[in-house]
Amino acid sequence: MNILVIGNGGREHAIVHALKKSPRAGKIYAMKGNAGIGELAELVDVDYLDNKAVGDWLDAHPDVEYTVIAPDDPLALGLADELESRGHRVFGPSKRAAAIESSKAFAKELMKKYGIPTAKYEIFGDYEKALAYVKGAPLPVVLKADGLALGKGVLICRTEKEAEEGLKEIMLDKKFGRAGDKVVVEEFLEGPEVSVLAFTDGKTIVPMITSCDHKRAFDGDEGLNTGGMGTFSPAPFYGEKCAQEVMEKIMLPTMAAMNAEGRTFRGVLYFGLMKTKEGMKVIEYNSRFGDPETQVVLPMLKGDLLDIFEAVTDERLSEVKIGWEDGACVCVVLASGGYPVKYEKGKEIEIGEIDKDVVLYHAGTKRKDGKLVTDGGRVLGVCARGKTLEEARRKAYENVGKIRFDGMFYRKDIGIKYRDISKE
Ligand code: AMP
Ligand code: GLY
Repeated sequence: MNILVIGNGGREHAIVHALKKSPRAGKIYAMKGNAGIGELAELVDVDYLDNKAVGDWLDAHPDVEYTVIAPDDPLALGLADELESRGHRVFGPSKRAAAIESSKAFAKELMKKYGIPTAKYEIFGDYEKALAYVKGAPLPVVLKADGLALGKGVLICRTEKEAEEGLKEIMLDKKFGRAGDKVVVEEFLEGPEVSVLAFTDGKTIVPMITSCDHKRAFDGDEGLNTGGMGTFSPAPFYGEKCAQEVMEKIMLPTMAAMNAEGRTFRGVLYFGLMKTKEGMKVIEYNSRFGDPETQVVLPMLKGDLLDIFEAVTDERLSEVKIGWEDGACVCVVLASGGYPVKYEKGKEIEIGEIDKDVVLYHAGTKRKDGKLVTDGGRVLGVCARGKTLEEARRKAYENVGKIRFDGMFYRKDIGIKYRDISKE
């Protein structure tokens, strides 16, 4: 079966890599892909934020029988609906279901209505009212732009002055554009964080192996928030008790809530969770695979990703066997100097002899005059598996040492945090 994969980051490289292993996968096309994906798939230069253009391309390529939509923005724009209305088979939620990520206000109201544990909050569309509330709120206070903001629309304010400035940036200066028309003001929670991605067809929900992201740019969680500087899997503190609590109090209720709202979710539902003193709570939902979580989760999958995807589309997920490898996986992201603010592109990437069992997932790369060059803020993800987290971490960093480009930087502490928290 020929397949189109939409997206162009490390997540999409990991998805294409996993789909390639399926005996049923035929030719893979990637819109728009990157240099690494280009080694496995034919790259298609069509703007995937233009629903009509993607639909027209698929109509003109009847050999492509299945489309996987990986990023959040085309899902929020209703690409799945557009393609389905033209009779194409798609992996990815409808626009109405993707609102669980594209509107934080919707997600919070859903959790309140259905009793799903999350931070206490208030939503404001009016700046003056928000300001009055924030002035009396306990500190630190968390401000979130309502809409999609590339993972950067969350401000943790430790003083009243910071909160006032943050509110102004979001609501008046429109730093995140229309995403800041509404703001969610939230209670600050504390505890270790874990990402649990789950396949769901609206009837069954199957969690994947857990992972932990590193959102800040520098070691020790310093610096600005980024799209994610590295991941490891599994989360050391997340045991059977956590898994059971999350399934009963969060995953099943979320799936049921979306059904009850007439927004049945079919695809990957991403639960960003925190283990607080009062139990597991939802920090955020995403309507898709995480990036760079996918780069450590899919290498651990025992099973055929194409079979799973199609079972989700056809609402027969309960029939598919899904398992996970023992051991651990670590992904270290190599970024361009200046990311996430301002960085240069077009730097030549030199790659030495990489160990056979280590995978380089490309994010911002392209071929220029036959050479591999940087083409984004996050450039490569170096992913290694090991019997233990420590072994995977050592292998990943050994191979990071074989890669260089001008301005390259990376965190040196991926895979260390949460080691001392007991498993429950
Ligand atoms: P998000 O974009 O929603 O994933 O938020 C980015 C990061 O901000 C999260 O990974 C958390 O580390 C932090 N964060 C978000 N909401 C809260 C909260 N209510 N309390 C503490 N930290 C938070
Ligand atoms: N790594 C966080 C995300 O994909 O949203």
